Amino acid sequence: NNAIDSDDSLAGQDIIVTAGGTKEPIDPVRYIGNRSSGKMGIALAKSAANKGGNVTLITTVKNAELSSNIKVVQVDSAEEMLTELQARFAKTNVLVMAAAISDFKPVHVSDQKIKKNDNQETYTIELTKNPDILKTVAKDKKEQFVVGFAAETQNLLANAEKKLISKNADVILANDVSQSDAGFNVDTNRITLLSKSSDPQKWELMTKQQVADKFWDYYVALKK
Ligand code: CTP
Ligand code: CA
Repeated sequence: NNAIDSDDSLAGQDIIVTAGGTKEPIDPVRYIGNRSSGKMGIALAKSAANKGGNVTLITTVKNAELSSNIKVVQVDSAEEMLTELQARFAKTNVLVMAAAISDFKPVHVSDQKIKKNDNQETYTIELTKNPDILKTVAKDKKEQFVVGFAAETQNLLANAEKKLISKNADVILANDVSQSDAGFNVDTNRITLLSKSSDPQKWELMTKQQVADKFWDYYVALKK
């Protein structure tokens, strides 16, 4: 129940959360996407707003049920998400990158719907790397507290530790997606919190809403 959890521990904090899988255009009617539901990011945005934060949600998810005190910026592609984030990052206190950014996008985007033809049984789409949004904005961050996720099926701690360093993040929420009860399109996650300032914290299996509340409680305690 949202009303019970509400407090003002994030009052005065400008918070940006990104959510959902990006859609990388192929032609006017097609895109490359992924199975992210956006649930983790939406839970983080709602939880922060319940705690009095000034929340902007940059999201690919359409028609999500959100409280009216969350500012919503709708995007599709990683490029659009980067642009909207760069316009706001300088004056934010916290960024949480919960979005599932497509690592690659089509090199060419066709103006017209691509037609299949009778003498071609295969079709190849050449892909190029998307910008690393988190790395790009956190590279020369100042006071901003930056949080990334790491979805891993193996070597969770080592891979997440690398992301903590290479992306210049303050925290990585490493998500063990090796089992079907955590990660994409389910309501629960298995999180280990990594930070530069303390040892990894392994959290039990919990709902995405519980992960969100626990993360903001961690942040509030850290900043006290
Ligand atoms: N991320 C990003 N821009 C990208 C790719 C990822 O900002 N182009 C962010 C994600 O939102 C997440 C973090 O980086 O917060 C880690 O994403 P993840 O996919 O786990 O890691 P990658 O760096 O993409 O590496 P890989 O997929 O190869 O494990
Ligand atoms: Ca990736």
